[in-house]
Amino acid sequence: MADEQLFLRSKVIVEPLVDRFFAWPHTIAPVQAAMNLAFLQVPMLESYLQSPAVHVAASNNPELRGGYFINIAESRADEVRDLLATIRRDRADMLRFADAVVSGQEILRASATGFDLTPVYPKLPAELGGLVELAYDTDNQAQLRFMEPLVYRSNVYAEARQSVQLSFETGIERPFILSTPRLPSPDVLELDIPFRHPGLEELFKTRVRSTTLSHLREALGLDDAQAAQLSTMLSDRPSLAPDRHIQSGGRVRYFGHACLVLQTPEAAIVTDPFISADSTAGDRYTLDDLPDYIDLVLITHGHQDHIVLETLLQLRGRVGAVVVPRSSRGNLCDPSMALMLRHQGFPVVEVDDFDEVPFPGGKVTATPFLGEHCDLDIRAKSTYWAEVAGKNVFIGADSSGIDPTLYRYIKNHLGTADLAFLGMECDGAPLTWLYQALLTIPIPKKMSDSRKLSGSNAEQAAAIMTELGAKEAYIYAMGEEDWLGHVMATTYNEDTYQIKQIEEFLTWCADRNIKAGHLFKKQEWRW
Ligand SMILES: [Fe+2]
Ligand SMILES: [Fe+2]
Repeated sequence: MADEQLFLRSKVIVEPLVDRFFAWPHTIAPVQAAMNLAFLQVPMLESYLQSPAVHVAASNNPELRGGYFINIAESRADEVRDLLATIRRDRADMLRFADAVVSGQEILRASATGFDLTPVYPKLPAELGGLVELAYDTDNQAQLRFMEPLVYRSNVYAEARQSVQLSFETGIERPFILSTPRLPSPDVLELDIPFRHPGLEELFKTRVRSTTLSHLREALGLDDAQAAQLSTMLSDRPSLAPDRHIQSGGRVRYFGHACLVLQTPEAAIVTDPFISADSTAGDRYTLDDLPDYIDLVLITHGHQDHIVLETLLQLRGRVGAVVVPRSSRGNLCDPSMALMLRHQGFPVVEVDDFDEVPFPGGKVTATPFLGEHCDLDIRAKSTYWAEVAGKNVFIGADSSGIDPTLYRYIKNHLGTADLAFLGMECDGAPLTWLYQALLTIPIPKKMSDSRKLSGSNAEQAAAIMTELGAKEAYIYAMGEEDWLGHVMATTYNEDTYQIKQIEEFLTWCADRNIKAGHLFKKQEWRW
């Protein structure tokens, strides 16, 4: 088998891990990763070790779905204890840095009273030295501004935290990514390599181009046992869909959640890639349906369901560029997506509102994204406008209609959209659910509950349509597909507020003869 030409089996998945927790921007980007490690993950491991049975019971309680409970059997509590001890020992620099951020903000609150900040610098904890600048906004409020590229070069960014697990998609829902660390398992191939490791690119390229086991073994640095395990993940036949390319016109395919594939015979664009590997399910497009080469991947924002490393890693090596929105640079709640992805080996183009990115035969324009981030000062978010084979496609993601006038500027700049894809997660989780670890002063529950991760409701979506003037509207990015459960943890039924709001919006569209739909699992548009 060692020299036979082989392809990666279609059901192989990769789970990127940092200190065994699932990787997403707030566990990879160093400032945010330190805060999440110190103030979310370590306390959660401690809580689990106090009463593992409570965590397991809560994990299996549907009413607590998406909560911060570790779903690991009590019989493996010793492994969790070892993980916590390793983190305390090996990540001491990160944990100290996180404490320094909190005390740095405390010092600023007490000492930055509108006067010269020079005397404040020597008071800051040594861990922040060289990595922050102190600055007032024009309202005289002082903040730490992180020199993010420098933090990546400091001991706060520990690439040794990273590893990957390769396994098969079983169709059984995986544990919730924000809470449960992944322990070793006999059916999982563990690779102690960073995400940027070139061997991963070689491995995932074998979905479209065959290679030999010995080549992969060398590229990934495998021992005999690992090579034997990898061989079960390879096949002598590719599993690619014959209709993954088109010969004429244009096509859009909905791959689930916020993932769309836009194609012409010359080019392909994928939005917010989050793609199932379960090729036997038959009710969805999978990694097998992707075109061999993807010119642009468009990332709309940094939430864990839109920048999904488990899919992105499968695409690296087949992508011209990943287009990401520019962050506000150095703000604690707004890590740079460009820096984060470049450090994982991706080619990146960073865009601001109305920046244009060409691709063969067309172009993408970055357009504004409003709200959906709990009123935090987060600028790394963008909608997109793609001109594909003569059609204008608006990719709205979770952007909301709190101020629908904004969408008039998009129309004035770009014209009328033929297809508009809009998210309507209109009753999102509260502020603390996602951002708790980054808050340097406690926030009352009532305040947190008032600041939700919410996109448009029916009225706001209608207002967007009125301003944008799109010919057809499709509701997507609702996290309803069952293969997203480990990331989304949603619990909708027909009486859920979001679903009712979507129905109301669809009625609004029908009353105005606007073609509209609520997307689920798969759909195709062809022209
Ligand atoms: Fe979002
Ligand atoms: Fe979302």
